[in-house]
Amino acid sequence: MRLLYSLLALLPCSLLASAKSLTGDKVLVLLDEIAAKDQYSIFFNSLTERGYQLTFNDATDPSLNLIQYDERNFDHLVLFSPSTKSTPHCSLTATTLVDFTNKGGNILVASSSAMSPVIQQFAAQLGIDFDNQGTSVIDHFQYNETSEHTVIASDRFTPVTAIFSPTVREGAPVLFNGIGHLVSPLVYTTAILKANPTAYSYETKENMVVDDDITLIGSEIALVSSHQALNNARVTFSGSLDLFSDRFATSSVKIHGSEKRYVKSGNEAFFNELSQWTFQEKGVLKAVSVKHHKVEEEEFPGWYRINDNIVYEIELSEYFDNSWHPYSAPDVQFEAIMLDPYVRVTLNRTQSESPSSTKYVGHIALPDVYGVYTLRVNYKRAGLSYVLEKDVVPIRPYRHNEYPRFLTVAFPYYVSAGSMLVGFVVFSIVWLYNRDAGVPKKKTN
Ligand SMILES: *[C@@H]1O[C@H](CO)[C@@H](O)[C@H](O)[C@H]1NC(C)=O
Ligand SMILES: *[C@@H]1O[C@H](CO)[C@@H](O)[C@H](O)[C@H]1NC(C)=O
Repeated sequence: MRLLYSLLALLPCSLLASAKSLTGDKVLVLLDEIAAKDQYSIFFNSLTERGYQLTFNDATDPSLNLIQYDERNFDHLVLFSPSTKSTPHCSLTATTLVDFTNKGGNILVASSSAMSPVIQQFAAQLGIDFDNQGTSVIDHFQYNETSEHTVIASDRFTPVTAIFSPTVREGAPVLFNGIGHLVSPLVYTTAILKANPTAYSYETKENMVVDDDITLIGSEIALVSSHQALNNARVTFSGSLDLFSDRFATSSVKIHGSEKRYVKSGNEAFFNELSQWTFQEKGVLKAVSVKHHKVEEEEFPGWYRINDNIVYEIELSEYFDNSWHPYSAPDVQFEAIMLDPYVRVTLNRTQSESPSSTKYVGHIALPDVYGVYTLRVNYKRAGLSYVLEKDVVPIRPYRHNEYPRFLTVAFPYYVSAGSMLVGFVVFSIVWLYNRDAGVPKKKTN
């Protein structure tokens, strides 16, 4: 009976709290001290309003289980613990975090100058190179008034439209106080927010040995970056934990270039949209249907013949604002590959029967070489989840009876063979019935 009551009590809650994220609504928040969670109430309230169930925990809790029985215990992880040390008892290591990502979990990491080695190692795995512990990004031109020059304001947002709406991209600068990093160009990592050209990264701890080498300068410094793994799990790194704080979100900030124009900082809109993107509430692509067949046929016969003309169709949808919408882009390509790509063409957009997807169609002439091919659409764009649709099909040569019987180009050969026959007959007749005039007739006495 009690079970029934609790089930009934749960029912309306589960209806109300329908998370907008595609991957689930269980969020684990790890903090250095649980008491500090009130400093980020705007951020956490916005997550709760969007239907997430937050669990707060101490990052050093030895009983912490991100993964249990080879399954994720949570769908998303918010790592607000910049000074976590890796102790023998602590289960939070770079390997655990990579495992969590491999199992499809999304992670939002915020750090500070106190750079935990756990976060530094985890970031290094994803091609993000944080500056040394104890350094901060400093800007003597675009800093917030009445504070130190480490509280900088930047509005150099990524131009990728799938990540931020125009509200953020054209909005107020974001206040940042923390450590900078570099992004390797060789991995699928996007710098979401960059520093101004006047910024540099330097040691700010008192009594520290001053290292004269400044490793990070100007607009190459990334302040916030995101990585999207091949399984579409997303990991976002922010060098500043203060960026998510109520103090920064409610602070005013001076607009660059203007003498005395203050506006509310862009932090709140920035971290809301950043967490929406990281937790897969937007920018998610999927292939709704994929099919291919010969022209004038409806079904794939199991194989194709060289030089066949086929039709390839794929329908793509994009998820944002809680529903699936048609995804329309001019650059969706089809490939037929057998080690090398033999065919690579851009597909044409057409109207789809379904209101939530766009259909891409290509009329493709298969190559003149037989073998086992992969027909695929491999679509990877910054800010969107990856689409990889592939189908392995055999392409066979002509059968012996599929060649045409008489070829026009071969007529000289037919004529030469025919003339040979005719010539032989004529020669034989001439040879048999011709008598040499020079030979005298035998006398017949
Ligand atoms: C930024 O500067 C404004 C204006 O001087 C001030 O009101 C605000 O508290 C500052 N914010 C921070 C985070 O220091
Ligand atoms: C796309 O449409 C154009 C114009 O109709 C056509 O010439 C082209 O072959 C089409 N591309 C594919 C891949 O079917």
